[in-house]
Amino acid sequence: MKNILHIISSPRGEESFSVKLGNAIVAQAQETFPGSNVTTLDLTVNPFPHIDGAQIKALRTPLDLHTNEDKAVLQRSDEALAQLFAADVIVIGVPIYNFGITSTLKSWLDNVVRAGQSFRYTENGPEGLVKGKKLYIAVASGAVFSEGPYAPFDFAISYLKGVLNFIGITDIDVVRAEGIAIPGIQETALEKAIEAIAI
Ligand SMILES: Cc1cc2nc3c(=O)[nH]c(=O)nc-3n(C[C@H](O)[C@H](O)[C@H](O)COP(=O)(O)O)c2cc1C
Repeated sequence: MKNILHIISSPRGEESFSVKLGNAIVAQAQETFPGSNVTTLDLTVNPFPHIDGAQIKALRTPLDLHTNEDKAVLQRSDEALAQLFAADVIVIGVPIYNFGITSTLKSWLDNVVRAGQSFRYTENGPEGLVKGKKLYIAVASGAVFSEGPYAPFDFAISYLKGVLNFIGITDIDVVRAEGIAIPGIQETALEKAIEAIAI
């Protein structure tokens, strides 16, 4: 039995390829780990706000000196961190927008990548604190990025792996529904991605 956290960042609901692929990963994880709890976090509903000055001030103030305002400003970030730490298996649905991740997913990351909480600086350099997780990236893109002429433009996945590794999440599988805009590839893109899921 595992705690599975399914993070959605496409606003297209059930039409979305990253949602369909994420659902397939969650379903397979539930088969492998019967009785698992599934929590869905849809970042397109009530998105995390961009980091502002008040949040940076609160982040730079030691916890024991936090005012009530600092605590209120960090409440959603605290909750997002607790949800992340509680998960054993994390599935992140990632639509590629303009070669990057969506701004809603970036805002969530800005709230969970936090010094002293999800990583800390030590004499030996930074140390990720979100340990022991299995993470699946369910990515959907119009073009093909895993190979061919767009492979050098696969920034989004290399960024995501980098930032997740930084906070301690190192066991990451990338599953791709790619070529969604390309006739001859789009027809089977989701099916091939689902076949490639290995739980
Ligand atoms: C605003 C926008 C920007 C996009 N930019 C890219 C892009 O840079 N590269 C690409 O391969 N596909 C791009 N696409 C296509 C999406 O990645 C594709 O439609 C994918 O299926 C979206 O994920 P979803 O089905 O989960 O919503 C873009 C789509 C939108 C709506």
